[in-house]
Amino acid sequence: MQNAFLRAAIFTVLLCAVYIYIGEVITEISGGAKTAATAAGVSAEAGETIFWGKGKCHTCHSLGEQGSAIRGPNLGVDGSRFPLPIGLRAEERAKELSQKTGKPMTAADYLVQTHFEPGAYVVTGYKNEMPPAWKPPINLKAEELLAVDLYLQSQGGEPNVGALTNSPYFGQMKKAAESRKAAPAEAFKPYLKGDPGKGQAIFFDPDSKAPCAKCHTVGDKGGKVGPELTNVAGTRDLPYIVQSILEPSAEIASGFEPYLVVTKGGEFISGVKKAEDEQSVTLADTEGALRKIPKNNIEKMVQQKKSVMPDNFRELLTVDEFHDLLAFLETLK
Ligand code: HEC
Ligand code: HEC
Repeated sequence: MQNAFLRAAIFTVLLCAVYIYIGEVITEISGGAKTAATAAGVSAEAGETIFWGKGKCHTCHSLGEQGSAIRGPNLGVDGSRFPLPIGLRAEERAKELSQKTGKPMTAADYLVQTHFEPGAYVVTGYKNEMPPAWKPPINLKAEELLAVDLYLQSQGGEPNVGALTNSPYFGQMKKAAESRKAAPAEAFKPYLKGDPGKGQAIFFDPDSKAPCAKCHTVGDKGGKVGPELTNVAGTRDLPYIVQSILEPSAEIASGFEPYLVVTKGGEFISGVKKAEDEQSVTLADTEGALRKIPKNNIEKMVQQKKSVMPDNFRELLTVDEFHDLLAFLETLK
């Protein structure tokens, strides 16, 4: 009697073990185990919040009619330029890349790769300037990027965690992000502690030596000649910001290229091209004024190498003022 009970118990334990084993194998195969392990907080909804918030994606990307950023491609539908939302477009891109490299690539691979190595595929007409969001200053965790990608997949397609986590790029990114944490941050160190309040005053005062707000908006104040800087420290690291101020022409922000127009009357007008249609071109000059020039009055129009942003702040600002300005910009995230 006791023996039979023991045997039944052992049998039950074994049976359970077999079920657990089969369960593991099946979920491994389908990617389900990983789904379960990352389920908390990993959803297209969580991704949406990150996209429009701490992920800073919205500072460069719009989504269809949502948002106004133009630095990166619209990730929704945008006329004839982007007829497919990113959930479907990713498939086209993956096919294109496979053909180019001879290596198979899925739509999920493409999405993950845009964060891991943004330069691997550069959308025609855009610069290779998408920041890898797993690195500072954006610093998203692998799970957060996973959520963002679910959100992107849901634009026209179906969110699929398994496809994303099974991508070799996801594994590589996770590993790279984890090993980064152990390494010391490779950061530019300002050598004085600036005063952000003083920096802010310089930035907004139209009569200061560096009236940045004449051309840049922060919050809801400032001009529109240059890029909005409301989140600049959230998307750009300090060395980039320093270079932007000291050598504005070293890397000209896309969408803000300088042009020179010579009119038929012999007038020279230079500025950032803000709009162009069949009839006219609109330039924003260094004072922020808009000039709409009819095309039939244009003799010549050439893109310039020199940024519209002045390149003499190095001479105008004292070392203290420069650090004050940096301290203020550092608060913009
Ligand atoms: C500083 C601007 C900037 C930020 C911030 C940024 N991107 Fe981009 N992104 C770009 C640019 C520019 C491109 C086009 C060049 C390229 O393909 O690398 C791009 C390309 C992409 C593409 C490929 C689009 C296509 O048509 O194939 C995806 C997807 C994408 N970004 C997603 C994101 C997500 C998600 C985030 C936030 C985690 C983000 N980006 C943050 C600038 C940015
Ligand atoms: C006369 C207009 C003008 C003034 C004044 C000006 N800028 Fe700019 N700035 C621009 C333009 C145009 C660009 C984009 C072209 C480029 O990258 O050079 C730019 C680019 C930048 C960028 C790079 C932004 C990015 O996302 O790539 C930073 C940072 C910046 N400016 C900071 C400043 C600061 C700080 C000041 C004040 C000390 C300042 N600017 C004054 C016109 C101006």
